[in-house]
Amino acid sequence: MMTQPNWAAGPSQIRVAKTKQGRKKRGSSQEREPQSPCIRHDRNVNTGLRLQPGPKNFLAVRLPEKIVTERLLLSWPTEVDADEMFARYASDPEVTRYVRFLTHHSVEDTRAFIEEVNALRPAGTDFVWLVRERSTGILLGAIGVHAMPRAAVEIGYCYARDAWGRGIATEAACAVVEIVFGDEKIRRIFATCAPENAASARVLEKAGLAYECTLRRHVVLGNLDGEPHDAMRYGLVRNPLRKKKPSGGRCSRRVKHK
Ligand SMILES: CC(C)(COP(=O)(O)OP(=O)(O)OC[C@H]1O[C@@H](n2cnc3c(N)ncnc32)[C@H](O)[C@@H]1OP(=O)(O)O)[C@@H](O)C(=O)NCCC(=O)NCCS
Repeated sequence: MMTQPNWAAGPSQIRVAKTKQGRKKRGSSQEREPQSPCIRHDRNVNTGLRLQPGPKNFLAVRLPEKIVTERLLLSWPTEVDADEMFARYASDPEVTRYVRFLTHHSVEDTRAFIEEVNALRPAGTDFVWLVRERSTGILLGAIGVHAMPRAAVEIGYCYARDAWGRGIATEAACAVVEIVFGDEKIRRIFATCAPENAASARVLEKAGLAYECTLRRHVVLGNLDGEPHDAMRYGLVRNPLRKKKPSGGRCSRRVKHK
């Protein structure tokens, strides 16, 4: 999951100093980057994203509590959602086969999960939204965002079996990609999926991410066998040479958030 900055390695060796022309250059001791990998953010802004780079350019993201698309309502989970989450998808081994959390065996696992994501959110590193059908309120699944070093954000998702094949996963992924890239400081969105998970790969492509590489024996899938498995990596990057916003694939632009 998250790669933690290496605290034990001591202060960052990256230094920044001004040249004769007044531009900053690396390599002098005149000014150091902050040593803490903690992320600072503007607390006055509670939607969108704010980034202030630490030594490894780690992000703090600020993402909205609710996202509305044509058919879906995405919202942060609360304790009262636990039973539904457990019953709809978190306890289903078919759904959780390729995900990185272990299949929930009791609703207590689901409660602990909710507690954990709600505790992590204020730091701006982890966000999970439950995805519900707007017309019925039925819980369909969940999608999450995880801030990573170097101004990158990782996404992941899973849906109840009866929600598969309806374009739900694509619609939610498009909305999240669009919201995340709403902040120009975010340089990269990426995701990994198992090579045999063709549906997930297709969702990523439709959300505008492109296949980058296959990482061999990269990810431990605890619900399969606990062994490291190959992972296909998909990414969408902001091109610094182009002013235009990156395209979100074939995404709908009708996304609201609050
Ligand atoms: C992966 C998952 C999110 C896909 O959801 P979905 O509801 O089928 O996705 P969508 O309906 O938006 O369909 C996306 C695309 O995948 C395609 N697709 C669906 N099943 C497929 C399959 N078995 N093989 C190839 N493509 C498939 C669809 O046809 C569609 O493409 P198209 O519009 O070009 O026809 C869903 O199966 C799921 O939740 N699986 C369990 C959790 C999981 O694996 N999460 C991802 C971990 S990396």
